[in-house]
Amino acid sequence: MTQETISNQMWGGRFEDKPDDIMEQINASIGIDKRMWRQDITGSIAHAEMLAKQEIISQDDAQKIIDGLKQIGEEIAGGNFEFKPSLEDIHMNIEARLRELIGDTAGKLHTARSRNDQVATDFRLWTRDAIDEISHLIEDLQDVLGDLADKHKDDVMPGFTHLQAAQPVTLALHMDAYACMLNRDKLRFIDCRNRLNKCPLGSAALAGTPYPIDREYTSEKLGFDRPTHNTMDAVSARDFANEFLFCAAQTGLHLSRLAEEIIIWATPQFGFIQLSDAWSTGSSIMPQKKNPDAAELVRGKTGRLNGNLVQMMTVMKGLPLAYNKDLQEDKEPVFDSYEAIRLCLLAMKGMLETATFKTDAMRKSAEMGYTTATALADWLVMNLGLPFRDAHHVTGAIVKMAERKSCKLDELELASMQEIEPRITNEIYKALKI
Ligand code: ARG
Repeated sequence: MTQETISNQMWGGRFEDKPDDIMEQINASIGIDKRMWRQDITGSIAHAEMLAKQEIISQDDAQKIIDGLKQIGEEIAGGNFEFKPSLEDIHMNIEARLRELIGDTAGKLHTARSRNDQVATDFRLWTRDAIDEISHLIEDLQDVLGDLADKHKDDVMPGFTHLQAAQPVTLALHMDAYACMLNRDKLRFIDCRNRLNKCPLGSAALAGTPYPIDREYTSEKLGFDRPTHNTMDAVSARDFANEFLFCAAQTGLHLSRLAEEIIIWATPQFGFIQLSDAWSTGSSIMPQKKNPDAAELVRGKTGRLNGNLVQMMTVMKGLPLAYNKDLQEDKEPVFDSYEAIRLCLLAMKGMLETATFKTDAMRKSAEMGYTTATALADWLVMNLGLPFRDAHHVTGAIVKMAERKSCKLDELELASMQEIEPRITNEIYKALKI
């Protein structure tokens, strides 16, 4: 058969006709999965080494294959590689180029392997790298929040419930709350990494392979903890991708809460924070404006992060064992969520590092809105032995009095408060001051 009559060099043996143009378009994933070229080459090198060690192919052939793969890696890294949609995906693009470079020996690489265990391996490797990078970015942001917490231990601000001033807190406590959320996010990513770090190679199409392969060897070479347990599960499991997408969505959700606070704090009405020029934009019509676009975009990316999770969960729903081509839809959402969460973490870090916190405005705001009322009630309980409900009632009356006099709680005279509860002493002012 000539090249012309073969519909596809990799699997076209029983085919006479070429695929329809649209078939080629819907089938091709190279535009997306070319991103995994490094992982594909690393995985193939480990596989070739194993085949030689087990004497399934000769050392000579393995060396030719490995040298060819390394050259392809250099070509791709240098931008000198032509990715062809007619060759479907990254795996077949690389193998076809290998054949151009070393001839028929290239065909031996795919011994004891299928694209199904190959892609599952590549994708796990890629996701593992992404998790390592994202965990570090989360740590960097945690550091920035930690530094802010250290710096603002004594800076008082209103703490809110229902976005109504509730009790005074410190900016440190507020920043540390986000550091805690991010810590859980990081642990979730690490947990996902631990679970995914098993090597599918050797599962082949779905039922394993009759060759005397050494799965422990490839697994170890590729930095996996061990080979996967069940071949059918290994080629069709993508819950690691779903977990990754959830981890990214949850992290994004936490960042969106912080972003929302930054947006509110940056309004002239709040005036708690001023973003640096580098992290704001102006308005083309309203010269007075300085918009917190980066924070808004971090908030907005939550839509895409949640969407990607739902997309992948929906792709997986009801899929029979084992591999189905639906699974090819797995990479785009994962790559997209990686990009989005990476940008969000970097932008949040940049914004916070360069922002000015208006601690005077925060303190002033904490002094308004009777935020020490709960402290007053607690004082009544602890010093006068009032049941809390009664103390709450007395405090309510005192707040009402301050409202009537348009003054802060600590500006009320002792005698006025004693009209409501005669046993109150001068000591009360300790509780009333911010
Ligand atoms: N590009 C494919 C994917 O991402 C590779 C696996 C193809 N396997 C197959 N049996 N057609 O899923």
